[in-house]
Amino acid sequence: MDVEKIRGDFPVLKEKLKGKPIVYLDNACMSLRPARVVEAMNEYYFKYPGCAGRSIHKFGEMVSEHYEAARNRIAKFIGAKEKKEIVFTRNTTEGINLVANTFDFKSGDVVITSDREHNSNLLPWQLAAKRKGVKHEIVFSAPDMTFDLAEFECKVKTAGDKLKLVAIVHTSNLDGYTIPIKEVIEIAHNAGAVVLVDGAQSVPHKKVDVRKLGIDFLAFSGHKMLGPSGIGALYGRYDVLEKLGSFMVGGDTVKDTTYDEHTELPPPEKFEAGLQNYASAMGLAAAAEYLEKIGLDKVEKHDTKLNEIITNGIKDIKGMSIIGPADPKLRSGIISFNIKGMFPHDIAIMLDDVANIMVRSGAHCMHSWFNAHAIRGSVRASLYLYNTQKEAELFIEKLKEISQLA
Ligand SMILES: Cc1ncc(COP(=O)(O)O)c(C=O)c1O
Repeated sequence: MDVEKIRGDFPVLKEKLKGKPIVYLDNACMSLRPARVVEAMNEYYFKYPGCAGRSIHKFGEMVSEHYEAARNRIAKFIGAKEKKEIVFTRNTTEGINLVANTFDFKSGDVVITSDREHNSNLLPWQLAAKRKGVKHEIVFSAPDMTFDLAEFECKVKTAGDKLKLVAIVHTSNLDGYTIPIKEVIEIAHNAGAVVLVDGAQSVPHKKVDVRKLGIDFLAFSGHKMLGPSGIGALYGRYDVLEKLGSFMVGGDTVKDTTYDEHTELPPPEKFEAGLQNYASAMGLAAAAEYLEKIGLDKVEKHDTKLNEIITNGIKDIKGMSIIGPADPKLRSGIISFNIKGMFPHDIAIMLDDVANIMVRSGAHCMHSWFNAHAIRGSVRASLYLYNTQKEAELFIEKLKEISQLA
């Protein structure tokens, strides 16, 4: 992978702040965008700025064609069988809420999640518990912070035929750990349950093939995979997608209406209410194309290689504790840590201040995990394809200097 060439595709990386280059290590929150993604969005605004699926004039036809081509590109990117299995959403959060709100739950049905869920895959199930009487079970990680398959199997057995859905994070935004998704899906399917995968951190960084893995639902966001913000996708295997009830309704979700009734369209239209974020759909498709050209296997290897360099470089800093499995190979491109005697926000501010090193600090929308472990938060550095070994080394050097202040 030619990282220098890749960097040339990202205009913001040519910028300097206070005379110094930018070291962007907050990719788990939001990735940067290559020029091609912004160009694809501009093409919509400059060349065919109409609405899809309605107007029969040329702009209408052009945007419909490009919008469906974008859907097709995303379907291919994740190995879906048909483009009609892709619902455009605003983000991962909306995809998960869509399923949580429309799945045909009965009181007493069980949903299993893990102890390492982002709020976006926790709160929807807490609400489902309150509103629909769903029982929400949590699988706790093993002491070494890997996924406890035995504990999961035990929870599945206990739930019996009440288990309807396993809603689980694939790669954690807390520590970068990726669960053994194939095994989890096999166990869930053998128990007759459907699996919803939170792919917000996996889809941008590794090849996720929904059919090879047997995923029923997959939610992910554009802005973490070089795409625009405000767009994401929910994949649903068509037979399970068809069983969901209505979510948001209105223009474009129906075939016909009277003052009293309406006839809804099938998915995906049924779930895409109102005029859509066409420009961002084009941008997302361009991002998927860009990643495919580079190769997600190469991206994954690159992330892990830099994580190994950083982990080895910082692990002996006095008072250092890294969250997650000790082996960086198990933590993809994320290093989440604390230094005893220092506040995460202070470390983040100093890294930004001394060398434009941008990291995230706080609870990373995982307050539940931090509260359960009585930890206030962490500093999180997260890598992507445009990060360099030189940047990793600068991060180590500056963190070592800052740690002297503890
Ligand atoms: C694992 C995980 N799930 C869900 C989300 C929510 O994504 P979004 O805010 O794009 O909906 C995030 C965002 O950081 C995440 O990391």
